[in-house]
Amino acid sequence: MPYIEDDFLQEVLSRNDIVEVIGGHVHLTKKGNNFWGLCPFHGEKTPSFSVKQDQQFFYCFGCHTGGNVVQFIQKQERLEFVDAVRHLADRVRLPMPENKNDKDYSKQRERKEKMYNAARDAAKFYNNFLHEEAGSVGLKYFSDRGLPPTVIKRFGLGMSPSGWTTLNEHMNTLGYDNQLLHEIGLLGKKDERYFDSLRNRVIFPIIDHRSRVVGFAGRVLDDSMPKYINSPETPIYNKSHVLYGAHYLKRLNSISHVMLVEGYMDVISLHKAGYLTAVASSGTALTSGQARLLKRYCDYVYICFDGDSAGQKATWKAQDILHAEGLKVKVISLPDKMDPDDFASQFGMAGINEQIESALTMNDYKISIIEKDYDFSNEEQRKDYVIRVCTEVLSYIEAPVEVSMYVKRIHLKTGFEEVVLNQEIDRAKKQHQKSDARQKTIVRQKRTNETTSRVVQSSRNKTAKDHGAKGAARLLFTLSMNHKDCAEYIVENIKKEDFEEGVHQQIADLILTRYAQEKSIDAPNILGLLDEVAVSELATALELPYELDERMMIVTDCVSRLKSIQVQRQIDNITKLLKDPMLEKSKRIEYMNILSKINHR
Ligand code: UTP
Ligand code: MN
Repeated sequence: MPYIEDDFLQEVLSRNDIVEVIGGHVHLTKKGNNFWGLCPFHGEKTPSFSVKQDQQFFYCFGCHTGGNVVQFIQKQERLEFVDAVRHLADRVRLPMPENKNDKDYSKQRERKEKMYNAARDAAKFYNNFLHEEAGSVGLKYFSDRGLPPTVIKRFGLGMSPSGWTTLNEHMNTLGYDNQLLHEIGLLGKKDERYFDSLRNRVIFPIIDHRSRVVGFAGRVLDDSMPKYINSPETPIYNKSHVLYGAHYLKRLNSISHVMLVEGYMDVISLHKAGYLTAVASSGTALTSGQARLLKRYCDYVYICFDGDSAGQKATWKAQDILHAEGLKVKVISLPDKMDPDDFASQFGMAGINEQIESALTMNDYKISIIEKDYDFSNEEQRKDYVIRVCTEVLSYIEAPVEVSMYVKRIHLKTGFEEVVLNQEIDRAKKQHQKSDARQKTIVRQKRTNETTSRVVQSSRNKTAKDHGAKGAARLLFTLSMNHKDCAEYIVENIKKEDFEEGVHQQIADLILTRYAQEKSIDAPNILGLLDEVAVSELATALELPYELDERMMIVTDCVSRLKSIQVQRQIDNITKLLKDPMLEKSKRIEYMNILSKINHR
């Protein structure tokens, strides 16, 4: 079977909302938190086929068929996995990566592996050169900008030699061919001759969230232009899915918020000051792929871009993208046209914390930007201001209390009556509804609101005490998929072997591996990798109610329950063995020892 890259599969899953896809085949009605319909896979008169939007999976309580959106299409259209993925990719006009046949494809994968290795080796080369005599200008540059060796190491910073082929020759001795080095942007090519792309520049390796080096940025040591040369988009560097600084997020245990900044040096200076969760989008505008990447780590983003008009535009755009992906956004405007690098160097962590405290909400920020364009002593301008605020900001706010708060404020500021302002907002809303693109954002916003309220509504008071090993396992699965704090505790405290049943071990194994790789566990991904029996088991688990406030207690309870069941099992086994009158003496002693060890734990 041809292989589908995980990144591509993620993209397909995230763009094909399961309710939309299944809704095209089955008439679905919303009841409570789920959608229900008549199962297309077995004849029935009352609906037992459920679709969960927040977890992006379906499950039939009648015939126990379930899975993610790909599995639905496989069953519905009777397609192989790859063809189902293609079907869904076509649906959202996403081109399938070319992989004509298995042999080509595995070759392609091997080559990609080589590219990752080459990038890592080049990063090592640049970093070594920084510490050599010839590269010491680079080291001086960094230390003049206040970077200590620890930070240089953390970001793998380096220096490129000024020769035209120094890196080229070094990489050749490691066995990499020029064609490959050219493909990942390390070498330029002119008239059939290759040369080092980055010369006499300090080097910032671009590291993806899986800690792989995927590209490079080289900065000049003086004021000449261009300031940065960046690797182009390559087979290993998909710019819309990489955030500078994201590799560090994985190392941190709990992240309350991240800060989105513009420059490499901003990320690095913030780290130096002790703020470890800064990321930058490497010289391109923020994309929704990058926003989804952030969502894996936390729900709050502070945008801190430059204060110039380009920075303001970028802030506005980035906000909309983050918001559409369900992230909560605030904006920091630094004083005196400073950038985060200047600010962090001058005011340190205390200053950063103050800025975070006084950050503006998204809507306050937008209004403050619009305000700057108008003279409030002029009635005409006051009117134009009101129209813009209503159209561009207030008409997008969902919570009526929030709208009313702003309406009051604008009334006091401009003198226009609240009724009139509300009419203006309604008019703008109708106008938006006409625009398809905007409509989509609203749907997405709604979706995230529903996610948060769902668990609260469905929880009832039940703890692990009511369940045996099976119940405990199921609770752990659903909790790990719904709550980050639970997931953290579970992966740290449980092993695959702690589960009794094979199917639970299979699910646990996937959860643990997935978490190690991605720092997150989500149902659609896990479901996509399980066989039918396991899908049905997991689907049942995800239906279990629990008390939201007590989730950590339930988790610790279930973990210790599973552990004690395993211990009891061990004791039972050994006791049985010891009952054998023919047992060798040495074995008997060994077993007795194990027993006494268990008893003393
Ligand atoms: P800045 O000009 O703010 O650079 O551009 P910086 O990172 O703060 O660097 P210093 O402090 O001057 O050394 C912000 C980001 O825009 C991209 C880079 O990603 C940079 O970090 N950029 C800027 C380029 O890609 N090319 C350029 O020539 C300039
Ligand atoms: Mn800067």
